[in-house]
Amino acid sequence: MRVGVFDSGLGGLTILRAIVEQVHGVELFYLADTRYAPYGEKSPHEILQRTLAITEYFLSIHQIDALVIACNTATSSAISTLRHRYPQLLIVGTEPALKPAIEQTHTGAVGVLATPATLQGDKYQTLADTLSTHRPVTLYEQACAGLVEAIETNRLTTPQSLARLEGWLAPMRVGGVDTIVLGCTHYPLAKSVIAQVMQREVRLLDSGEAIAKRLLSLLEGVGHHNRGESRLYLYTTGKIDRAMVSRILPSYVSLEEIVVEG
Ligand code: DGL
Repeated sequence: MRVGVFDSGLGGLTILRAIVEQVHGVELFYLADTRYAPYGEKSPHEILQRTLAITEYFLSIHQIDALVIACNTATSSAISTLRHRYPQLLIVGTEPALKPAIEQTHTGAVGVLATPATLQGDKYQTLADTLSTHRPVTLYEQACAGLVEAIETNRLTTPQSLARLEGWLAPMRVGGVDTIVLGCTHYPLAKSVIAQVMQREVRLLDSGEAIAKRLLSLLEGVGHHNRGESRLYLYTTGKIDRAMVSRILPSYVSLEEIVVEG
C-alpha cells in the first residue's frame, strides 16, 4: 500500500510518527508544504488549492492508495471537496481531539489551541456545538497566530514567544482548565513549553494515535496485512529544519526538495 501524508510543514510529522508506530509494511510519502506555510493564516480557498495540488501530485507521481491530511486546517477547508472529487481514494482527515477532552476533563474547563482558519471553519464550529450538547463544558478557544512559525524556526522559547503563550494560556490557567486540545498538528512539538507556561498539571491531547488507528482500519478493510517494514520518503516544497526532522523521525529514507505547482 502506498500512503501520502501532508501538512504545511513539520507538524504532520507528529501524525506520521504515530502512523509509523502502528501501520507496518507500507510505503509512506510525506510532503511538508513549507513554501506555502503557514496554512492557518490563509483563506479557505488558498488552502483548498494547495490541498488539491498536493493530492494530484501524490496520485500522479506516487500512485497512492490512501491520503492522510495531517493538518487540521487543510482538513477543515478541503476534506469534503476531496472526498467528492476522489471517491476511490481512502482519505483520513485530522480533527481537534475535542471529544476525548470533553470526556476526560474533571474541572469542566477545556482549552482549545488551533490556527485561526481551523477555529473559524464551519467544521470546528459544528463539532463544538454537537459535542457541547452531550456534556456542557466551558471551552477556552484560542487561535494561536504565529505559533506554527515559531515552531518551524525553532523560536519557541524566545521571550516574545513565551510572552505570547502566557497571554493565550493565562485565561485557561485562571479558568481552571485541566485539559487542552492541541488542535494543530504542529502543537505537540510545543508540548513541553505549553506545560511549562501553564504552571500546573494539564492533559494535552493530540490526534496522532486516532489518525493512525483510522488509517490502519481503512487499509485493513482493503486487504492490508500490516506486516513487514515501512519505508518513509520525505519531500518539502521549501525550507525545512532538517535537524528537527531527524529528531522527530529518525528512520526516514530520504528528504528531497520538490516543486508542487498549484
Ligand atoms: N499543522 C497544521 C494544522 O494542523 C497547519 C498549521 C499551519 O500551517 O498554520 O492545522
